[in-house]
Amino acid sequence: MRIEAEHVGYTYMSGSPFETEALRDVSLVLDSGKYHAVVGHTGSGKSTLLQLFNGLEKPTEGKLTVGDWTITPETKQRDLYDLRRHAGIVFQFPEQQLFDETIVKDVMYGPLNLGLEREKAEQLAKDTLLRVGIGEELHARSPFELSGGQMRRTAIAGVLAMEPELLLLDEPTAGLDPKGQKEIMELFYDWFKEKPERTIVLISHDMNQVARYADHVVVMADGEKQLEKTPAELFTDGTTLQTYQLAMPETVRILKALEDASGRPVASDAFTREETLRRILAWEKGERSG
Ligand SMILES: Nc1ncnc2c1ncn2[C@@H]1O[C@H](COP(=O)(O)OP(=O)(O)OP(=O)(O)O)[C@@H](O)[C@H]1O
Ligand SMILES: [Mg+2]
Repeated sequence: MRIEAEHVGYTYMSGSPFETEALRDVSLVLDSGKYHAVVGHTGSGKSTLLQLFNGLEKPTEGKLTVGDWTITPETKQRDLYDLRRHAGIVFQFPEQQLFDETIVKDVMYGPLNLGLEREKAEQLAKDTLLRVGIGEELHARSPFELSGGQMRRTAIAGVLAMEPELLLLDEPTAGLDPKGQKEIMELFYDWFKEKPERTIVLISHDMNQVARYADHVVVMADGEKQLEKTPAELFTDGTTLQTYQLAMPETVRILKALEDASGRPVASDAFTREETLRRILAWEKGERSG
């Protein structure tokens, strides 16, 4: 699903003493079928932006287009209900929203709400649970008997079972151990690659994740869009990273260290372990041939 923001602004509690301008004059295009990331320091407006993308909030200024929906401050909330079915959102710590007595019922809740028959909703829930790695032996148990990582995956199954085209991810791996983080990121990536029109917008503070998965990165600061770049452009540009206080991905850091230590140029835009190894081997070959 394609997203276009035209001079979008958002102010919380307008007209009250607590008024906060969270977004100011944001214009951007997020192409359909791509994996986008939004980065920036705390309070820069990332989560607010994401909540506009699925119609949970409306912009207080400007115009937003998400797929076939146009959203302005005048749009009625009821006209956005349908958008929310197509744009799934995974909040930070989504397991806090688990509530039903069994795991499978919890995941069925969304599909049932969409009007699916009970039997179909149950099948869809079970299939989705298996896909996120929650085995059948657990389906009739209470979600509160699960481990933290399993609860997170159950909550994610609840979003995927709605069969969205657009997946909005707000720090989906926060608080998990490295293994759990990788599993969940791979899960989203597998989902993304399954159909060409599937689109992801990820908010993350982990630049290793962003470099590894994203096609396109939006940098926010103080409620404004600062720049949009490919990971290759952004993550090899040490000066820009420093300006926005973004960490350099580990793979890039290793290759830059190799370049500094050897005094020979190394292409540092590698974001996977395999690609990094290839670069090191290519460098070594050049080293040997003098
Ligand atoms: N519900 C709210 N009511 C009032 N102000 C809010 C609310 N949510 C966020 N804000 C304010 O809006 C601004 C942007 O917040 P937002 O949560 O979008 O930032 P963020 O980039 O997601 O930050 P973080 O990285 O900490 O999650 C901040 O100044 C924040 O204090
Ligand atoms: Mg946030």
